Amino acid sequence: MSESLTTTRMRRLRRGGILRDMLAQITLSPAHFVAPIFVRSGQAIRRPILSMPGQFQLSPDMALEELSDMAARGIRAYLLFGVVDAEDKDEAGSHAHDPNNAVCTTLRLARDAGINMLAITDLCYCEYTSHGHCGPLAQPMEKAPRRKTDKYTTANARRSRALHASGVTVDNDATIAQLGRQAVLHAKAGADIVAPSGMMDHAVTAIRTALDTAGFPETSILSYAVKYASGFYGPFREAAESPPQFGDRRGYQMDFRRDSREAVREALLDVGEGADMVMVKPGMAYLDILSAVRQAVDVPCAVYQVSGEYAMFKAAAQAGWIDEKQCVLEMMHAFRRAGAAFIITYYASEILEWLRQ
Ligand code: PBG
Repeated sequence: MSESLTTTRMRRLRRGGILRDMLAQITLSPAHFVAPIFVRSGQAIRRPILSMPGQFQLSPDMALEELSDMAARGIRAYLLFGVVDAEDKDEAGSHAHDPNNAVCTTLRLARDAGINMLAITDLCYCEYTSHGHCGPLAQPMEKAPRRKTDKYTTANARRSRALHASGVTVDNDATIAQLGRQAVLHAKAGADIVAPSGMMDHAVTAIRTALDTAGFPETSILSYAVKYASGFYGPFREAAESPPQFGDRRGYQMDFRRDSREAVREALLDVGEGADMVMVKPGMAYLDILSAVRQAVDVPCAVYQVSGEYAMFKAAAQAGWIDEKQCVLEMMHAFRRAGAAFIITYYASEILEWLRQ
């Protein structure tokens, strides 16, 4: 039956807040948000991240304070990233396997303090390797001594250019062999969920096998199944001190010029390997991808509003050009409408505050 142009009035259902609230299908609740936090070794460190106003690198003791604070404000889950001192970085990223690194220490502190939040850990090597790629390289870099101050020397720049030109990239199978080890370490320290973010093939199989073998069959895997090589990670690489020292990540992260079918394949593969949940990342520019993946898989589908997205909202808000609360909440509804079960966002604390008002 076709609608009559004379009797239809779409505005009838927009009359008044009570009616609009009654009809709102897309909702946000505190349980839908995950707050990322950055930890580094040391004591009493609370270092602001300049390109991400309101975000900090924290030493484990300060991270514990932050977590108690977040828990008190109603945040239910956090995603932990390790920031690594330059002298602790090497070609293989072995500091990731040190049970006393900042991530493991923070997990233990949180568990011992009885913090009632889900602990999720980012599982990658880019923060831990001297070259900044997400795992050991297929061909080792020449064994030149590398000091902390070495980063910007001509010799190093020359080496980096040569590596880039030679097309050296991350060794997939060596990386996944290590990833299982890192996952077990996180699980032992108290991680509830591990989140591999390196876009290595068969990473989920390797991690699931390692966790089960080590007696952690209950630890979940949230796979960054669909992760694009994106300019929106810029501020994060400052925050995590993890920019690639040569080349870029396009040899393993996805190409945004391809359509959603590749994304669906990635997600289905990870689910087949045992991923309990999958993630699409970044968020704002990938709502179509999120929607397609959500419809293709049966597992919960998350979205990550990444550092560059956060920085853009913050910058525009600070300039007085947008209403921050209105725009950020609008964005969150878009993520949920596109199918996100939950949202990882640096805005988690502020959103919870806004939801309370
Ligand atoms: C890799 C990782 C990255 C992000 C999360 N995990 C950076 C990258 O792939 O370069 C980016 C998150 C953000 O930008 O907020 N460990």
